[in-house]
Amino acid sequence: MGSETKIKMPPTQWLPTILTLVSFFLLSLALPSHGSSQVGYGYVVRSAAVDSNQKVLTATLDLIKPSSVYAPDVQTLNLHVSLETSERLRIRVTDSTQQRWEIPETVIPRAVNHSPRRLLTEENGGNSSESNTLEDPSSDLVFTLHNTTPFGFSVSRRSSGDILFDASPDPPDPNTYFVFKDQFLQLSSALPESRSNLYGLGEHTKRSFRLIPGETMTLWNADIGSENKDVNLYGSHPFYMDVRRSNGQGEAGTSHGVLLLNSNGMDVRYDGSRITYNVIGGTVDLYVFAGPSPEMVLDQYTEFIGRPAPMPYWSFGFHQCRYGYNNVSDVESVVDGYAKAGIPLEVMWTDIDYMDGYKDFTLDPVNFPEDKMKSFVDTLHKNGQKYVLILDPGIGVNSSSYGTYNRGMEGDVFIKRDGEPYLGEVWPGKVYYPDFLNPAAATFWSNEIKMFLETLPLDGLWLDMNELSNFITSPPSPGSPLDDPPYKINNLDGKASINKKTVPATSVHFGNISEYDAHNLYGLLEAKATHQAMEDITGKRPFLLSRSTFVSSGKYTAHWTGDNAAKWEDLAYSIPGILNFGLFGVPMVGADICGFSYDTTEELCRRWIQLGAFYPFARDHSSTGTARQELYLWDSVASSARKVLGLRMRLLPHLYTLMYEAHVSGVPIARPLFFSFPRDINTYEISSQFLIGKSIMISPALEKGTVSVDAYFPAGNWFDMFNYSFAVGGDSGKHVRLDTPADHVNVHVREGSIVAMQGEAMTTREARTKPFELLVVASRLENISGQLFLDDGENIRMGDEGGNRDWTLVKFRCYLNGKSVVLRSEVVNPEYASRMKWSIGKVTFVGFENVESVKTYEVRTGERLRGPRISLLKTVVDDDDPKFMSVEVSRLSLLVGKKFEMRLKLT
Ligand SMILES: *[C@@H]1O[C@H](CO)[C@@H](O)[C@H](O)[C@H]1NC(C)=O
Ligand SMILES: *[C@@H]1O[C@H](CO)[C@@H](O)[C@H](O)[C@H]1NC(C)=O
Ligand SMILES: *[C@@H]1O[C@H](CO)[C@@H](O)[C@H](O)[C@H]1NC(C)=O
Ligand SMILES: *[C@@H]1O[C@H](CO)[C@@H](O)[C@H](O)[C@H]1NC(C)=O
Ligand SMILES: *[C@@H]1O[C@H](CO)[C@@H](O)[C@H](O)[C@H]1NC(C)=O
Ligand SMILES: *[C@@H]1O[C@H](CO)[C@@H](O)[C@H](O)[C@H]1NC(C)=O
Repeated sequence: MGSETKIKMPPTQWLPTILTLVSFFLLSLALPSHGSSQVGYGYVVRSAAVDSNQKVLTATLDLIKPSSVYAPDVQTLNLHVSLETSERLRIRVTDSTQQRWEIPETVIPRAVNHSPRRLLTEENGGNSSESNTLEDPSSDLVFTLHNTTPFGFSVSRRSSGDILFDASPDPPDPNTYFVFKDQFLQLSSALPESRSNLYGLGEHTKRSFRLIPGETMTLWNADIGSENKDVNLYGSHPFYMDVRRSNGQGEAGTSHGVLLLNSNGMDVRYDGSRITYNVIGGTVDLYVFAGPSPEMVLDQYTEFIGRPAPMPYWSFGFHQCRYGYNNVSDVESVVDGYAKAGIPLEVMWTDIDYMDGYKDFTLDPVNFPEDKMKSFVDTLHKNGQKYVLILDPGIGVNSSSYGTYNRGMEGDVFIKRDGEPYLGEVWPGKVYYPDFLNPAAATFWSNEIKMFLETLPLDGLWLDMNELSNFITSPPSPGSPLDDPPYKINNLDGKASINKKTVPATSVHFGNISEYDAHNLYGLLEAKATHQAMEDITGKRPFLLSRSTFVSSGKYTAHWTGDNAAKWEDLAYSIPGILNFGLFGVPMVGADICGFSYDTTEELCRRWIQLGAFYPFARDHSSTGTARQELYLWDSVASSARKVLGLRMRLLPHLYTLMYEAHVSGVPIARPLFFSFPRDINTYEISSQFLIGKSIMISPALEKGTVSVDAYFPAGNWFDMFNYSFAVGGDSGKHVRLDTPADHVNVHVREGSIVAMQGEAMTTREARTKPFELLVVASRLENISGQLFLDDGENIRMGDEGGNRDWTLVKFRCYLNGKSVVLRSEVVNPEYASRMKWSIGKVTFVGFENVESVKTYEVRTGERLRGPRISLLKTVVDDDDPKFMSVEVSRLSLLVGKKFEMRLKLT
């Protein structure tokens, strides 16, 4: 739910404005030369030194010549470069004479290596030498300072010499110079145009996952519907991954990541041969992550920004929401509708409709009264279902009767302007906004949530409107360069004021921090405070969904792509949308299934659930005033939903294991194809397919009226996930046209995978009582492996943290040697799964090539030999390709917590 449909201009009115502004923008793309003066003349190196022991290079830079464009330059800069780990290089440039705004360490912890104590000084015994290169045998990253006029620097790979980031100026072009002014920074890097493939730099709605040359990505959090392409949206993530084609020597797919850790507004211009940052404040704090595989980049990136929060097991069930449910019985009838239709529904949601006058922590006494809400939530809980409600940050200003407001005033927790709380306007009317940089605001917020949860035992919270959204634009403070900075970022694709429909930049946070600097952090700070509150209050793993995000939000919250439209394009854009958040360290992400704004159609909604069932976060959500779109409303949608959500429910153990992998190593749940196939350059431009984990590929139908999809299959044998029959195979990748009848979505699993599944069920609680099934997809060429992570699904800790032992990890491997097959499990922390008595009831082997039948088989658990008597063996020759046979061993009862070995002899 957002303001777009009600408050903002409808899209039809937007269009002419956008067109005019786009053309204006194109004309002004090249930075101005303001008469004869240019934006900057760059700096020269005054001195530089390297401390090889501490892996630090420092330099002093002097301004060559002042320019008055966007105000005067900073005279002298300090450059501080450090190899913080062998895979992470940090480059900081700051004003040498005064402290400037930087994201507080309390918000994003960092700085292992840059405390002044550890800075290079000769008297404290550092091994200092004059040098322009920082390198270390343990690291593939090499930093080189170029003592040119103007100066430059580059980061390259020791192993290949490949230059990853090249901030050497191109002398004829001042747009490539390093510029450092109070409200304007410029940093530009050359890129090998024919080899670089860039991903990331959000949040934007894009047609193509790979960034297209010519694009300018503006980062400034704004409440604007995600149906608007290529404009700055709700979150800011100044991070990209570069996946490179081969330079003729090494293999393709060598990847690295780059983060410009800066919370100020910025434009990032990408033209293929260059990426240029124009930032309106803060410092240059640039991090290069060495990779060299995409997975390693994400591991290194999330090691630095924080690992993705574990999400509760139940949050992987299906969610239903709508802005515009009328009352409790309306919501109850939706829950009933799902039950009657036999469609799994895990979580029911309510948008702002439940509130009294849209005020946080209140219930509408007429339509959502407390007693009815309580009994509704109790019923949900009895049925193993959950309830999530929305919260907006703006606190309605109403002193007469609104306790939350009064306590906020007593605690003095609100953002201020000119010494008074800043008065904005959102759903409740006039509001004040809690200042989450103020520790008192976290206390206030936590207390309000605690009281609300005592009234209604909610299972999760949804944080909306936290960009911050404001229905009014307050006039600027006269003459203030914060409200009206000299360089205009391309806010809302029209260089709109940065104050447009948000809290003005001259507003002040705790610690005298300006909104100008902290604006992009609001959603992160709110999620962080809410996460802590929920953990403290419930003692359980929180589930939060936040619209606004920043670097490291994934530590606290899930995300959805915001207010999309019920249009076919938006269905397609949802894939780049979710893949981007995987790169941003927010793996729990989805788009509103069936579309938020406008009326959906039966066909669109059917295709959308066929795709959305495989989003990590799967929620149907629509706007008030649009046609209802619960999945049971059309027979064809209901039947598709049963099929695809049925598969999702069976895949829950796998999805949850992927959550664990994301939590420990940052690797996304939904991944671009190049994560598994980085050497296959055909995967770089794919925006219409994705992987769940390493090897389950979704190739959805994205167009109206279509009955086929053109899909790309990387090398290897692929099998249909619904009936396990052979689909596509080969030694090299193939473009294939797949049938996609109305009720079908193409989901394939690749050879070499072992996928742990459970039985179909209507809720995750029920699914967790079903026996496990292992799907083993044979491979002649590759290791066959997979894993299964188990815990109670709501422990605050996931895995080993804090000495936690209440979990089990099972690693499966299968060995294929001629006609003999061995499947083995290895169990880490077996006690937990043994206590839970989970067992494997069935093992399905798929893709045995050129075999006729099974001659013998046996199963060992621990030391004891178990006879095969109890189980049932079935072999099936694949109708689609008789070369393949599958073997199903059922009626097993293998304890998950006990290691086992299964041996087959084939003929
Ligand atoms: C300083 O570093 C150089 C180059 O790494 C090395 O050869 C030299 O022994 C070091 N000197 C001291 C005092 O550590
Ligand atoms: C709840 O809303 C529905 C419309 O969705 C309406 O028909 C019904 O009368 C309302 N019930 C109550 C108790 O207000
Ligand atoms: C304040 O809240 C009361 C009770 O919810 C409501 O009746 C009143 O209209 C509100 N006043 C304003 C100014 O919003
Ligand atoms: C707060 O910051 C502003 C600049 O943003 C500065 O002018 C003012 O002096 C600061 N006030 C205090 C009390 O530090
Ligand atoms: C298979 O696994 C072994 C042992 O973990 C590893 O050394 C080998 O590289 C793997 N082979 C392939 C093709 O991945
Ligand atoms: C399996 O499903 C695919 C896709 O719907 C279909 O083309 C194929 O014929 C099915 N195979 C069998 C053996 O049912």
